[in-house]
Amino acid sequence: MVTKRFQCPSCREIASFSGSAGEQVIVTCPSCLHQGKIVFPAEDTASYAIEVSHLKKVYGNLVAVNDISFNVKKGEIFAFLGPNGAGKTTTVEMIESIREPTAGTVKLLGEDTKTSFDKIKEQISILPQEFHSFERLTVRETLEYFSKLYKKQADIDGIITALNLQSYEKMLYRNLSGGLKQRVGVALSLVNEPDIVFLDEPTTGLDPKARREVWQVVANLRQQGKTVFLTTHYMEEAEFLADHIAIIYKGRIIAEGSLDDLITTYGRGSVLHIQGCTSSEALVILKDEGYDARSEGNGTIAVTITYKDRVLDVLSTLRHEAIDYESIEIRRSNLEEVFLELTGSKLQEAEA
Ligand SMILES: Nc1ncnc2c1ncn2[C@@H]1O[C@H](COP(=O)(O)OP(=O)(O)OP(=O)(O)O)[C@@H](O)[C@H]1O
Ligand SMILES: [Mg+2]
Repeated sequence: MVTKRFQCPSCREIASFSGSAGEQVIVTCPSCLHQGKIVFPAEDTASYAIEVSHLKKVYGNLVAVNDISFNVKKGEIFAFLGPNGAGKTTTVEMIESIREPTAGTVKLLGEDTKTSFDKIKEQISILPQEFHSFERLTVRETLEYFSKLYKKQADIDGIITALNLQSYEKMLYRNLSGGLKQRVGVALSLVNEPDIVFLDEPTTGLDPKARREVWQVVANLRQQGKTVFLTTHYMEEAEFLADHIAIIYKGRIIAEGSLDDLITTYGRGSVLHIQGCTSSEALVILKDEGYDARSEGNGTIAVTITYKDRVLDVLSTLRHEAIDYESIEIRRSNLEEVFLELTGSKLQEAEA
């Protein structure tokens, strides 16, 4: 059996269907009942590090993870992006065999984790969301301690150099800054030379500079050929790091693809932001002229731009109508807008 995710051309709902490799079937969208033909591809599981199929977790009355399916290719950084409580940790811990799924299957490196986890457990590593280490060990001692838990002999010097921890290797863990503690956490996730690294919100709570340093470390993991499964609620983190992004919201995957795929499918193209607009009529005038304009509050008007010359058209309309403004800015659609389009709220609001 092959599972294929299919995006409904009518309502954009993503649903998974199972069938035989190469089979052609008519499927019905579970959301809007639109019917379409799909062909199941020939199976190419060898290129997948992680295969998740119809995974579900129910806690009492709460369906925390609701029938999700996705694959992660070997060697890619896969970002699992979603607000607080979306189901990220529950999913990642089911994949890591820490929590038992209510339903569904997980394969890591082709092995079903329910029956064969022992075969692959040394090939994965985990940086949990609430990571802490021994307060009174130095960075080097910490790495040496954890490396002894595995059969493989870790190259501690290589890891210290790769994570740029040379200046801190004699410092006690408790004296490190938050960013350095997270870097040590990522370093620890390398002591068993894993093929797949799971990082559950590795930069939460860090200041922007420390966050960027951790990003660099994670980007380097890709260069080393590792597969990285990263959960995050930072849009910029997924934009900066990920080859492939799945957005999880209320236990369901609501969109999936590369950054470009997501922006092309759900974004609004480029948006012209007119800031400090003094005229209360401006929005009405622009709409009357046929522009896709909306107020963003505080005197800012956003106009969707489908092709470059439209910017000049908008500005000449404003001049013609003697509408004054302080500044303009043109921004390409980003993940924040994709999330807004899909859920009707900003990611930060969804977390409130
Ligand atoms: N052991 C548990 N028992 C009951 N409910 C749980 C349990 N673990 C998680 N939940 C609930 O399941 C939902 C998903 O939680 P989860 O921790 O997976 O989300 P998350 O996306 O990782 O959030 P965060 O960004 O805050 O880490 C939440 O509503 C949470 O309260
Ligand atoms: Mg979590």
